[in-house]
Amino acid sequence: MIPFSLLPARRFFFAVITATAVTAITLSSGCKPSASSEASATIKVGEYASLTGTEATFGVSSHEGIVLAVEEINKAGGILGKQVELFYEDNRSTAGESVTIVKKLISRDGVVAVLGEVASGRSLEAAPVCQAAGIPMISPSSTNPKVTEVGDYIFRICFTDPFQGKLISDFAWKSLKLKRVAVFSDVSSAYGDGLRQCFSDAFKASGGQIIVEQKYSSKDKDFKAQLTAIKATNPDGICIPGYYNEVGLIVKQARELGIMVPLFGGDGWEAPELIQIGGAESLKNTYYSTHFSPIQDTPDAKKFVSSYKARYSGKTPDAVAALGYDSMLVLADSIKRAGSTEPKKLKAALAATDMMGASGRTRMDAKRDSPKAAVIITVENGQFKFLQTVEP
Ligand code: PHE
Repeated sequence: MIPFSLLPARRFFFAVITATAVTAITLSSGCKPSASSEASATIKVGEYASLTGTEATFGVSSHEGIVLAVEEINKAGGILGKQVELFYEDNRSTAGESVTIVKKLISRDGVVAVLGEVASGRSLEAAPVCQAAGIPMISPSSTNPKVTEVGDYIFRICFTDPFQGKLISDFAWKSLKLKRVAVFSDVSSAYGDGLRQCFSDAFKASGGQIIVEQKYSSKDKDFKAQLTAIKATNPDGICIPGYYNEVGLIVKQARELGIMVPLFGGDGWEAPELIQIGGAESLKNTYYSTHFSPIQDTPDAKKFVSSYKARYSGKTPDAVAALGYDSMLVLADSIKRAGSTEPKKLKAALAATDMMGASGRTRMDAKRDSPKAAVIITVENGQFKFLQTVEP
């Protein structure tokens, strides 16, 4: 790929159809929307995702959901009479990559909106780029509150971690009846550290005690030292706010050390790999909250599950896939209501979103977040099992 700055101006000039003056601004500023967006023959949508690397499961699931939605929309005639064209880029689960690729999606490809990311840390990297360019960004599934605080062009279609932290806390306190818990969190991700705080605040407010806190970082492989320190305090359970790779190893090593108490966490646990890494036996008596379960029986969820399975050789969709799918539906619905892809009109329409999708009802609140029901999942016989729904 030729970096944008190395593209000869002339070639870029011929690549866009209209408005030479604005094109010149685009070239000099490095990150302004392409002037051709409105005049384009297609509706250009950008997506940035972790398609490879440590959290590839997130990027691949989200991408599959988005692709399915684009195909369905195009088959039904597109949006405002135009077909949707998806421009997607892989950040390889690497910090720093998202800024570069999102700049490219906006400046070179001229996308009218950007879908992504799953992980809060990477959404937080690219959100300022979209905000500065005045191009709406919709995160399907980043739950850290700071993401939409970046500005009025940044939206999410999922719940946030204050809600998630409170519901995990209520589940631990009321359903599991835990009183003294340990927290073992990923301090290298905005998500892990944010959820740690939200859970701890809620659990203490209920009257529970956080008796010990231990930390780890993404890509760590050996957690025995921290787990041994936790074991010595004899907690009733351990809250582990983090992503599936490390969580799988932590669960496995905890059981090897004879820690048999309930282990629980949030949506970052969501991936089939969790069971492959942790093992069915170790994952007994573990619980996590997430956004969607494939057994949900709303008409939209059922329709999504069957089209996803048909499209992807029988694969069962996870929550990330459902939210990816819905992020594209929300964008399409907003473009239709705006009657335009003009960024200000599109932003206003996104802010007024209220629609049903695979993951339930998406209703944008004043902070551009979407309060939504959560589900609690456990693992039994090596299978994810839906336990309960928690309304916002
Ligand atoms: N909520 C997580 C984050 O903000 C991402 C995630 C969403 C992971 C849904 C799994 C399922 O980083």
